Parts: sequence; structure tokens; C-alpha cells
Amino acid sequence: MEHKIAPSILSSNFLNLRSEIEMLNKSEADWIHCDVMDGVFVPNISFGFPVLEQVRDIAAKPLDVHLMIVNPDKFIPEVKAAGAYIMNVHYEACIHLHRTVCAIKQAGMKAAVTVNPHTSVALLDDILEELDMVLIMSVDPGFGAQRFIEHSLQKISTLKEMILRKNLKTLIEVDGGINRETAKLVLEAGADVLVAGNAIFKSNDPLAAISEMKCLGRL
Ligand code: DX5
Ligand code: ZN
Repeated sequence: MEHKIAPSILSSNFLNLRSEIEMLNKSEADWIHCDVMDGVFVPNISFGFPVLEQVRDIAAKPLDVHLMIVNPDKFIPEVKAAGAYIMNVHYEACIHLHRTVCAIKQAGMKAAVTVNPHTSVALLDDILEELDMVLIMSVDPGFGAQRFIEHSLQKISTLKEMILRKNLKTLIEVDGGINRETAKLVLEAGADVLVAGNAIFKSNDPLAAISEMKCLGRL
């Protein structure tokens, strides 16, 4: 399966959000990654439902919504109404993760669980078959433009083995510090979806940056 690219609009120019989304609509991006932060789960605040709803109205690609908030299970109907195709909740933020994952799917969304850099992927062994995707954070969540944590590569390979051993179709998404160089490494390790913020929106030619990431791994 060809890998997917999910540009993170956290690094976009919010004053030109319409044209940034229109650029993504024309691009080879597969999904649009939306980072929601509450200032509690992570030390930063980004944007919430009113912004997501407006993105939904003009986006021609599925919204991949990454919730960096406490108690994400409280907001499942709002996330669905805001147009999410896939809802990512943090392992560290969910006490009853199985219940939350079932409720996300019940609401008609794909379910993904995100793990922070210090959280072992082995902890997902008993829930993996319920998941459409696992998001491995390759930086500590909260900010764009941070440096890729090398140990993430080992976590990707371990998770890939777990998925193959169980004969599942669960996707592996990687988020944080992804650029042309680290993208190659994470794809080799087994990633299926690459999130990139800074490397796309701060490049001189975002469309070309997306194409380049999309082409990696093609013969
Ligand atoms: C960080 C967010 C990321 C962020 C990635 O907490 O989850 O999605 O936008 O940005 P880059 O690609 O610049 O590391
Ligand atoms: Zn993210």
C-alpha cells in the first residue's frame, strides 16, 4: 500500500487558512491533520471546533483530527459534527480506552490511539485489533518544528511486527519532526501515514514538498 501524507495545519498561516486549505485540496496530500490542544494535556493551546467546522466546509480531503486534550471521550459527538474522518485520542488521556474507542466507531469515525514518546507500543497489545490506526508521536506533543526522536524508529518496527503477527490492517501514523530525511527512515521502519507541519508549510513550495514526500518509496 502506498503511504499517505497528512499535512498538519498547525504550521499553516491562520490568516490565510482558506488559501492554505485550497492548496492542500490541489496537492497530493491524502488527509488534512488537525491538532487540537487544550493547554492542559499539552503546554499549548491551538484551535477548536469553530475552526474545524470551517475547515470541514472547504476541505476536499478527509480530516485527521489529533486531540491533545484531557477527557477526549467527552467530545466524541462534537468531533464527529466538526467533520472528522478519523479521531485520534491519546493513550495517556483515556482511562477507559476500550470504551472510548468503541464510542468513536459507534459515532461513525475511524478510531486511532496516539502514544507519547515515553509510552511503550506494547501497551496497545490488548486493544490493537480494535484500532484503525496508531499514531506514534516522534516529538513530545504540543508544538511544531521540534526535532525527531530517533527511538521512534524502534517503536514503529515493534508495532509493525505486532500488527503483522496478528494479521491486522491497522495503519501506523508518525507525527513530529518529519522532513525529507526522517520521512525515509520512518517509511523504512514501517510507517503508513506521515504527518508534517513545518517541512510543508514553511517550505518555499509546499505543493512540491508534499509531492516529494509522497514520491518517497515509489520506484
Ligand atoms: C505536535 C503536533 C504535530 C505538529 C507537527 O504536537 O501533533 O502534528 O504539527 O509539526 P512538525 O511536522 O513541524 O513537527
Ligand atoms: Zn498532530
